[in-house]
Amino acid sequence: MTKKIIISGIQPTGNLHIGNYLGAVKNFVDIQNQGDFDAMYIFIADLHSLTGGLTAKERHENIIKVTAEVLACGINPNKITLFAQSHVVGHTELGWIFDCVTPIAELERMTQFKDKSSRQEKNINAGLLTYPALMSADILMYHATHVPVGEDQIQHVELTRIIGKKFNTKFGKYFPETKVMLTKTARVMSLLEPNKKMSKSLGTGHVIELADEPKVIEGKIKKAVTATEGGGKAPGVENLLMLLNEFGDKKVYNEFSQSEKKGDIRYGDLKSAVSTAVGDYFKDFRERRKELLSNHDEIAEILMAGAEKAQAVADKTMDSVRRMVGIR
Ligand code: AMP
Ligand code: TRP
Repeated sequence: MTKKIIISGIQPTGNLHIGNYLGAVKNFVDIQNQGDFDAMYIFIADLHSLTGGLTAKERHENIIKVTAEVLACGINPNKITLFAQSHVVGHTELGWIFDCVTPIAELERMTQFKDKSSRQEKNINAGLLTYPALMSADILMYHATHVPVGEDQIQHVELTRIIGKKFNTKFGKYFPETKVMLTKTARVMSLLEPNKKMSKSLGTGHVIELADEPKVIEGKIKKAVTATEGGGKAPGVENLLMLLNEFGDKKVYNEFSQSEKKGDIRYGDLKSAVSTAVGDYFKDFRERRKELLSNHDEIAEILMAGAEKAQAVADKTMDSVRRMVGIR
């Protein structure tokens, strides 16, 4: 029987936001705690973040910060392997080998490529295009069968299957088929433009960071857009109700949900209920994060230990792959 191997990555682009949490990290923690897998890996995708505009200093600091944040969310390095992508030798080499079996047309049709190209017009680098081949390398390096990610990454996992098949056809059957594991809430919308997904690149007012203090959360949610465009359901209100359902008390959620259906919902009350729910939900997170960030050495040690475990697996894969493609 094929083993169940789970992997996912997060870019060190800044503090985690509730989109990352509901779309990915919460799922990682639930899967980890259910323990239904043969191996599970979570890594900080620092090489992927080179496609964006961070400075070296920002990237370096964010690697530590995001690691502290996933730990504060409940990731346990004794149960799973937690590492930084760049610490493991082999990802870029496998990424290159995959570049050479990936049709450019497949890369060009990726929504994220088009999206990011339009957002960083002055920096449409080759890495932005070949990104999914590196992501496939991250996944197939560990023979992963399941990838928990948010909706925006489905296309990349589909392409991973295509790339794996191309490799298998050309060089011999070696890589497994990989499936996405979606969360219940695969898409959290921006507070200010609720028809777009919540994303750091839209600006800080659009996102709630897990580390935001209650006052900050309140201020951002107060400004959240609740208006409808041309009648119908307001996406901003749907988004706030979804957040209340995820983070708040079920009874409170039901009351607001019913008054929304009846048409007598008061947005001000909804907003303060959501602010309280989110602020309370992440109270322990904020404390653990602070504690963890007071000891960078401990975080570095966790990452090093994780990289050592991952490297042992990567070495085996790369040994076989090099042989299969004829470079050893
Ligand atoms: P990134 O920060 O882009 O590396 O994203 C990390 C994870 O969070 C990925 O699995 C994404 O699919 C997920 N994610 C990012 N933004 C959102 C969002 N607004 N809603 C749901 N999931 C998201
Ligand atoms: N592309 C993912 C994102 O932007 C991050 C990522 C890189 C990833 N490699 C991966 C996710 C491998 C899952 C598996 O969110």
